[in-house]
Amino acid sequence: MDKTKYTDKKNIKLWGGRFEQPTDAFVEAFTASVHFDQRLYKHDIAGSIAHARMLCHVGVLTKAECESIVAGLTDIQLDIERGEFAWSVELEDVHMNIEARLIDRIGEVGKKLHTGRSRNDQVATDIRLYLREEIDAITAELTRLQQALLELAGKETHTIMPGFTHLQTAQPVTFGHHVLAWFEMLKRDRARLLDCKKRVNVMPLGAAALAGTSYPIDREYTASLLGFDSVTENSLDAVSDRDFAIEFVSAASLIMMHLSRMSEELVLWMSAQFGFIDIDDCFCTGSSIMPQKKNPDVPELVRGKTGRVNGHLVSLLTLMKGQPLAYNKDNQEDKEPLFDTADTLRDSLHVYADMIPAISINREKMKSAAIQGYSTATDLADYLVKKGVAFRDAHEVVGKAVKYAIKADKDLAELALQELKTFSDVIDQDVFEVLTLEGSVAARNHIGGTAPEQVSKAVARGKEWLKSV
Ligand code: ARG
Repeated sequence: MDKTKYTDKKNIKLWGGRFEQPTDAFVEAFTASVHFDQRLYKHDIAGSIAHARMLCHVGVLTKAECESIVAGLTDIQLDIERGEFAWSVELEDVHMNIEARLIDRIGEVGKKLHTGRSRNDQVATDIRLYLREEIDAITAELTRLQQALLELAGKETHTIMPGFTHLQTAQPVTFGHHVLAWFEMLKRDRARLLDCKKRVNVMPLGAAALAGTSYPIDREYTASLLGFDSVTENSLDAVSDRDFAIEFVSAASLIMMHLSRMSEELVLWMSAQFGFIDIDDCFCTGSSIMPQKKNPDVPELVRGKTGRVNGHLVSLLTLMKGQPLAYNKDNQEDKEPLFDTADTLRDSLHVYADMIPAISINREKMKSAAIQGYSTATDLADYLVKKGVAFRDAHEVVGKAVKYAIKADKDLAELALQELKTFSDVIDQDVFEVLTLEGSVAARNHIGGTAPEQVSKAVARGKEWLKSV
């Protein structure tokens, strides 16, 4: 028996048998992935342990061999977690680093672990295990953020602000309603993530290099040990496609896009010109030159980070598009964009969930902004319609009244009844009820409308829904 430790050998490559020359040093570094895929160690070890147990279950490994492999892998995991594992570029990736170390630790029997599998199905399995865990963690952050939004909306059901279209004052809305719009976006985002998880949670192990294996493996057994819902149904597809990762990054891009839109609003609202909100100091930073500045860095940075996630989506789509079946080394490039996407998304949601409760609302500013923009003009038109005027005519009449009010530098509600009557004689004293902001929002009292009553109901529905997720 060769007693030399793998890691002491001159040529320690696990695939070195057919090679006469050592790998060029630059090529070795160029082709290695261990500096980034080492973070898959936990999933790689979990996959290996399940694989070993399955090999034992079908009689390819003896019980003693299996136990020795499992114990060795468990110790290696502890070493890694204690920072006592020396990763080697010569051993290329996380898989061969761990396998070589296993052989060093437990000897010959360690060489049996790779029976009936390949790094191709191994890495596909690791990524799926990793992504499954990430999706759960990200969904938990999403829940925290949704909870925070519901709390905020619940406090601001009666707060009136201008609603915008084209970023021009359109109609008054309640701030709670605006916050619930964000909540709805995230609800769809969550559904997309969970749907994606269904396709992530399928086990490729057993596909081996590309064609399957001649050992009497029991894939369902391995899958149940690893908590996979099912096994992949085609070995070529199993080792080659990364569509599940692309799908995740696509769902992540949509979430980042939503966070970015929220960020844009928060940044605008915190400006002196809007003055709608303030964000606690602990979420802001100052300027090195302008002493008066307090900058909303967190939302700005989240808006900025959206770009890198979108970029990762394009990277992965491009990575995949030219690949023939089955596995190609191109796929090693899937990890960095995927990891960075999950990290960026998770951190962005985390900081947002913490920041939302740290936002204070300036209700007066919001209300006076809504007053300024003739936001009840539609209400006046609707009032005329209810008194028998056709909508198009009503639109025209109100347009003229607004023109007049702009010249007089007054809000519609500030015009005297006599002045209003010059535009239409159906206008009466009761017009002032619809010209108030409160009257305007309260009138939109149907499911999905901005009325405080509806916002309270929507918050209650949201809280019920959160209990079920
Ligand atoms: N490091 C590789 C990757 O990330 C593992 C699979 C390598 N397989 C191979 N046949 N070279 O994709």
